[in-house]
Amino acid sequence: MGSARITVIGTGYVGLTTGACLASLGHRVTCVDVDEVKVARLAAGRVDILEPGLEELVSRGLAAGRLSFAVGSRGSVWNAQAVFLCVPTPMGARGAADLRAVEAVVDEIAGTLPPGCVVITKSTVPVGTAQRIRDRLGRSDVPVVANPEFLREGTAVSDFLNPDRIVVGSDDEAAARRVAALYADLAAPTVVTDAASAELVKYAANCFLAMKLSYVNAMAELCERLGADILSVTEGMGYDHRIGRAFLKPGPGWGGSCLPKDTHALVQVAESVGFDFSLLSAAIGENIAQRDRIVAKIAGAVGGSLAGARIGVLGLAFKAGTNDLRDSPALSVTSMLAAHGAEVTAYDPAIGGDLPGMRLVDDPYQVAKGADAIVVLTEWDEFRRLDWSYLADLMHGDAVVDTRNLLDPPAILAVGLCWLGLGRPRVRARATA
Ligand code: UDX
Repeated sequence: MGSARITVIGTGYVGLTTGACLASLGHRVTCVDVDEVKVARLAAGRVDILEPGLEELVSRGLAAGRLSFAVGSRGSVWNAQAVFLCVPTPMGARGAADLRAVEAVVDEIAGTLPPGCVVITKSTVPVGTAQRIRDRLGRSDVPVVANPEFLREGTAVSDFLNPDRIVVGSDDEAAARRVAALYADLAAPTVVTDAASAELVKYAANCFLAMKLSYVNAMAELCERLGADILSVTEGMGYDHRIGRAFLKPGPGWGGSCLPKDTHALVQVAESVGFDFSLLSAAIGENIAQRDRIVAKIAGAVGGSLAGARIGVLGLAFKAGTNDLRDSPALSVTSMLAAHGAEVTAYDPAIGGDLPGMRLVDDPYQVAKGADAIVVLTEWDEFRRLDWSYLADLMHGDAVVDTRNLLDPPAILAVGLCWLGLGRPRVRARATA
């Protein structure tokens, strides 16, 4: 398409990244949102999402005149050649994706889209959505293309600009190829297929990743029971190129805005066509069990009962590099600790304000004061560099539960604390001192 006129509807981390990156590829992009305050801030170059490189890209796009922001979709699509739908598709009733925001936008723009303009679904949408949008639009002159995103929070810009693949699917192959051409400069392998297959790729990939993590977390549990070390086990597995080394770190469970939502949605979609996707349901169940196991491990570390125990939590975001608490396993473990009667003090470098059931502090050392145990729940790099000798002095007890295997066990041991990782042999100092 060369330099195309593009409208991106929705300025969440997917929409804003898509808009700013497409502008950086030379397209003329208008990003639209219903939130007037957000649009005004974005038009002034202010980005509220914690996404490395995004604010700079937005500023560059604005300065070059290739990126602009507007309120409301209808007035922003009349001369577009491509319209990206990037509005939220949250988990709705019984785990199915809630498409009301998508449908509302489609209704709003249906009469204004110019002939030949391509409508593109970017947010993760259930299989069949492209077809439903076509029916809803009622425009034979406006093709619909599914073009799922594979952006991780915290690395969205670099994921967009260095994609593993581009996937475009439509019943109108020429339209799919026009969408693929928007990314021509990225020189990524491109899968051109039908709409349903493109839509399913996203679920298939995310659910596979979730299953991989549930498998690793279960394997970590097995390592503990068998006296093996998950680090060596995953290292040995990861060299098999069919398995790969990525996504093999055990943790408190997988969370965030995508994996939980997408796994539930695919189970639901499978059920709607009479298929019991028990493999995936088991992975979801394993993810819940993992949180229970972590809470039990923390209870064990403080003598068996959490009632009245003082727990210092390091990390609440669902992963490092984001301030996102959506479906955060760290947050649910913390809430479970509080529900069991623990007194929880928490610190996260990206999260401030008030959260129910815990005291949130703005200094990692404060969580250690009088704590029976310190629990690492998010893999922030700064936790590696803490002064553990000082933390040990502030603590009442000696347990460090490291659910991310982030810390250096000998360093914890050296200051007289007991380190408990996940799937790894326990390291205790005082018992041997
Ligand atoms: C995910 C997909 O990776 C991305 O392709 C998709 O577009 C959106 O969903 P994101 O939600 O940003 O991205 O998080 P991701 O980095 O994939 O991590 C998901 C969860 O798995 C996090 O809770 C993370 O802590 C956990 N995780 C990841 C592990 O516990 N161990 C690992 O080795 C990797």
